[in-house]
Amino acid sequence: MDDLFKTLRSSGQDHLIPVIESLPQERQGPFVERLRAIDWQELAAPEVPLDDAAVAQSRVVDRQERAQRADEFSAVGERAYQDGAVAVLMVAGGQGTRLGLDAPKGCFPIGALSGASIYQLQAEKVLALSRRIGRAVPLLVMTSPMTDAQTRSFFAEHQRFGLAEDQLRFFCQGTVPSLDADGRALLAAPDRLLENPDGHGGCFTALVASGQLQRLVDEGVRRIVYIQVDNILVPVDDPILVGVAEVESADVVTKVLDKAHPDEKVGHLVRVGERDRIIEYTELTAEQARMRDDDGRLVYRWGSPAMHCWSVSFLAALAQDGFRPPLHRSAKPLKAWREGAMATVEGWKNERFIFDLIPQARISIGLEIERDDEFAPVKNADSQGSDCPATARRLASDLFARWLSAQGVVVDLPPDAHLEISPVFAATVADLAQRWDGRSQRVDGDLLLR
Ligand code: UD1
Repeated sequence: MDDLFKTLRSSGQDHLIPVIESLPQERQGPFVERLRAIDWQELAAPEVPLDDAAVAQSRVVDRQERAQRADEFSAVGERAYQDGAVAVLMVAGGQGTRLGLDAPKGCFPIGALSGASIYQLQAEKVLALSRRIGRAVPLLVMTSPMTDAQTRSFFAEHQRFGLAEDQLRFFCQGTVPSLDADGRALLAAPDRLLENPDGHGGCFTALVASGQLQRLVDEGVRRIVYIQVDNILVPVDDPILVGVAEVESADVVTKVLDKAHPDEKVGHLVRVGERDRIIEYTELTAEQARMRDDDGRLVYRWGSPAMHCWSVSFLAALAQDGFRPPLHRSAKPLKAWREGAMATVEGWKNERFIFDLIPQARISIGLEIERDDEFAPVKNADSQGSDCPATARRLASDLFARWLSAQGVVVDLPPDAHLEISPVFAATVADLAQRWDGRSQRVDGDLLLR
């Protein structure tokens, strides 16, 4: 106990000592054990400010290069899929609270006509890919302590959406203490710290701790396609992405978008000194976000839609070095146990970001994508009007309209009608080209292909 008290005192958490002492002996155990497991020095360390003099453009395979080298990248990427060298990792630790759902975000019914959940949609993309290449592509799903049980039972209730048992792998992220405005740990109950999930960056530590990374190494998986549950258009069957990673021997490939406007609220892929990194919009002033280089291009030009392809050997080497992504603080009103009751406290949530692995990469590359083909995030309730279910369904329907048009179908939809193509019918435009039997020449109302 002496060592723990010393650590708490030296990291500004001495207020926890009387909390421990006030507990009856039998209730101290789990609380003390948890306090011992936390790296209090890390929580006390300030974030390193950005030196923006050294910021420059990252190497990006832009639309032009992508088009020129598409065949080369596709062929190499396709071989990696065929070899069983690719897995998909989906982070799904978030709750659906902002969508008015008392369940994990992935349970939200997003299908415009089918009502399929986001989980179903993402899982069926992996199913479609596995069927196409004739081998089971692993789908790793990161949950949080808040979503784990419900996520597992949701998949079980739906027979894993057709995925094989050892193909679908859950692992749970960790938590970190939430702090008050002075950086002191808060309580959730008299004998429990208030903690929050440790951010999507927690997926690196949890991937290692759960043994899932080693399992991928043992299976000969070389590339992880990383997706976030809340982007319903994110592709997992993406030979160009995997091909860029393989051809360039990249530690990480990050998909990027030319920002819609300088103030768009996204992370930015930039080079700082010798290494790439992603800088969140929250870390930039308006002047920085609008800064231009000598060629008149925005320095913070490349927005990140949070899609990456990670090299498994890069991750394994980082794990070997004991690397852990740093914590970032964000101001939040928190519900904490104070003086015998729950109260709202202005404080800090701490999170790790997956993209903080990028500065560790020797070879990091951006890959420009068409925003409307791959990015339809579901973050807010429809009442917010942006990045919400209604906008995501519309973007999906518009994409499916382009896919059908490419097969020679005339699409003339009234404004309130939707197209929906289930991934088990066609998960990509190439799938649709293979599958399309010319059943309609013209579409002028709701259409569900399944
Ligand atoms: C994120 C990115 C931003 C990017 C934008 C694109 C961060 C800090 N910012 O913003 O750079 O431009 O997406 O949409 O990531 N998650 C967990 N566990 C956690 C926290 C989050 O699994 O502890 C998952 C969520 O389920 C979700 C995803 O991570 O799938 C994104 O998290 P969110 O906090 O919504 O990120 P954004 O702020 O929207």
